[in-house]
This record gives sequence, C-alpha cells and structure tokens, in this order.
Amino acid sequence: MTQTSDMKRLWEDSFEEQIARGAYNTAPVEAVIRSVAYWLRDQPPSDRPLHFLEMGCGAGPTLVWLAQKGMRVSGVDIATNALELARENLTRNGYADRIGSLTECSVSATPFADGTFDGIIESCVFQHLPKPDRIAAFREVARLLRPGGLFVGNMLADAHTTFQKLKDKQLPDDPGSLHLADGSSKIHLTNIGLAHFFRKDEYAGLLPGFAVVDPCLSTYYLPKSEAKKRGYDEYLQAMHTVVAIK
Ligand SMILES: C[S@@+](CC[C@H](N)C(=O)[O-])C[C@H]1O[C@@H](n2cnc3c(N)ncnc32)[C@H](O)[C@@H]1O
Repeated sequence: MTQTSDMKRLWEDSFEEQIARGAYNTAPVEAVIRSVAYWLRDQPPSDRPLHFLEMGCGAGPTLVWLAQKGMRVSGVDIATNALELARENLTRNGYADRIGSLTECSVSATPFADGTFDGIIESCVFQHLPKPDRIAAFREVARLLRPGGLFVGNMLADAHTTFQKLKDKQLPDDPGSLHLADGSSKIHLTNIGLAHFFRKDEYAGLLPGFAVVDPCLSTYYLPKSEAKKRGYDEYLQAMHTVVAIK
C-alpha cells in the first residue's frame, strides 16, 4: 500500500491551510444525509442506537447530523488535526456522549471487528486513494458492515470536466485516475495529487456480494464566472452518490 506517512502529511497540510482560512467543511454532506434519511425511514424500532462510521470524517459535520438523529457515531481519519476538529465539533454540539470512537488510521486498514457497524459513510475520500488502497477501503466497508447494513459513498464521476479534459493523461495502470498537481492551493481538486473518477459500472465489482449497489450521478455547471477563473468556458461538477446494502 501507499506510504501512509505521505498521505498523512498531505492531508494535515491541507487541513492546516483550511483551518487558517476558515475554509474547512462545516456542512453535513447533502447527498449522503439524504440517502441515510431514506434508509432510516424503513428501519424497524431498535432498543439500541444504530452505530454509524464515517471513513475520512474530516471536521465531522456529517457525524454531527448522524448524532442529531440519535445515532452512536465513530469516525476514522488519517489527519490528527481533522480528528481534533471532529471531536470539538461533536462536543460543541452536545454529542460527546454519542461518540463511539474517533480513531487515527487509514480507511484501508481499520482496527474494528467484522460486522461492527449498521452504516458506513464516506465523502470525497476513496476518490483520492491509489488503486490498492481504494480496493482495500471498499473491502473494509464490506467487512465492517453487519448484514443488511448501509453504505453511502460520495465520489467523483467520470463525467467531470477535469477528467473529460485530461483523460488522455489517465494513469496507464489505473484507468480513471489522474495525477493532479497544477501548483495551486492544496484545497483545490486540481492540486490534490491522485484523483480517481469512477465509472458507474465500477462499484458492483468493488462491493461483491452486496444485495444492492445503486450509484446515482449528480451534475451541475459552475457559474460561468467561476468556470472562467479555472480557464474553462463551461465546467461540469459530476459526483456519484453510491447507495449499497450488504
Ligand atoms: C476531502 S476531505 C472530506 C472530509 C469529510 N468526509 C467531509 O465530507 O467533510 C477528505 C478526508 O479524508 C481524509 N483521508 C484521506 N486519505 C485518508 C486515508 N487513507 N485514511 C483515512 N482518512 C483519509 C483526509 O484527512 C480528510 O479528512
């Protein structure tokens, strides 16, 4: 697998810049919470709170939403400063007692037992993993979910303008992936290093044996003024929200 220490440095640097600019994500990820909310409507009453894990939880805004819904919440992240923000965020919002664990580790190798979680979410994390780590991360999702458990992921889709413009530079041993390093801020997609733009038919192979694997494409055009700043006439953002049931 890729050097965890390199990834850790990259993301801690990114968070340091985000903290300095007050630019880290403080909003629950809409595409993820909408899918979790639909799933929750059909869950039978239970005498214990559901336990959800966010893989790559960042500053934890989506964990706060899950805790608000009464869940026990756990998060893993490779960046120490991100986990500190997540703990502060949950505590400030009054949910310290709903924290299962906040653990520093890679999403590709977590310390939890098989079938620990009722649900697992991720947003904008798996898309930045090199191929062996990406495959291992999906394998962790399958291992950590209990039967009938929910996975919701939110990741870059191959309709994205950045991929469409640069697809002749796809990595030969990892089609769909680009190495992006334009020298801009590490907050921007175009300078984050590896980015994988998923094909809709990739997920079923990454989550074998799941009862449901349902990716949904969402797109929107950036305002023209914003597209121009990036050197484009038109710029399409494209993400898959993947809903899967084990
Ligand atoms: C783009 S941020 C998204 C944060 C959060 N999911 C959100 O939507 O607000 C990516 C997060 O994944 C974490 N991350 C990246 N690679 C990771 C890895 N291999 N294992 C664990 N966390 C990782 C980063 O530290 C960062 O917090």
